[in-house]
Amino acid sequence: MIPVGVLTVSDRAFRGIYADQGGPGIEAALARILATRWRPVRRLVPDERPQIEAALMDLADREACPLIVTTGGTGPAPRDVTPEATEAVCDRLLPGFGELMRAVSLRAVPTAILSRQLAGTRGRSLIVNLPGKPSAIAECLDAVFPAIPYCIDLIGGPRLETDPSACVAFRPRGA
Ligand code: MTE
Repeated sequence: MIPVGVLTVSDRAFRGIYADQGGPGIEAALARILATRWRPVRRLVPDERPQIEAALMDLADREACPLIVTTGGTGPAPRDVTPEATEAVCDRLLPGFGELMRAVSLRAVPTAILSRQLAGTRGRSLIVNLPGKPSAIAECLDAVFPAIPYCIDLIGGPRLETDPSACVAFRPRGA
């Protein structure tokens, strides 16, 4: 079973002020999209750069998750630092992910431009940031997922297959 990192970044969910909806939202979207057997590796951290970076490094290096999806902390508020933490642990950024997710989200809500969500690779792991709003999770993941299996092929990860009724993954001919 392929381990997939599911990282919720939220001060309030971390303190138990409300239940984490983001992590379960990511798992529900992945359950719909992925045909390959997978299991979530869950983490919940407050909006603190060192804790976000430690969780991302643990999911990538120790848990060996080929895909790590985060939710929350991407906005412009002072405590929103998920993109900074992601950039700090990544070897390379993939700006197209953020560009596409913002473009798709903008059709639903004008404040989509406030998200600084990004994606990048750390070794054989792809890290993708999503906003904290539960409704943003499926919107964003559905938009970028067609490119995720081939991205993971290219960085040396396992072959991921999707359920074509939920997501048609694109691989160049012969890949
Ligand atoms: N994207 C989608 N698809 N749906 C949304 O409701 N909310 C926006 C934006 N992107 C939103 C969205 C808002 S209001 C903010 S402030 C930013 O995401 C950042 O959210 P975050 O800090 O919870 O990550």
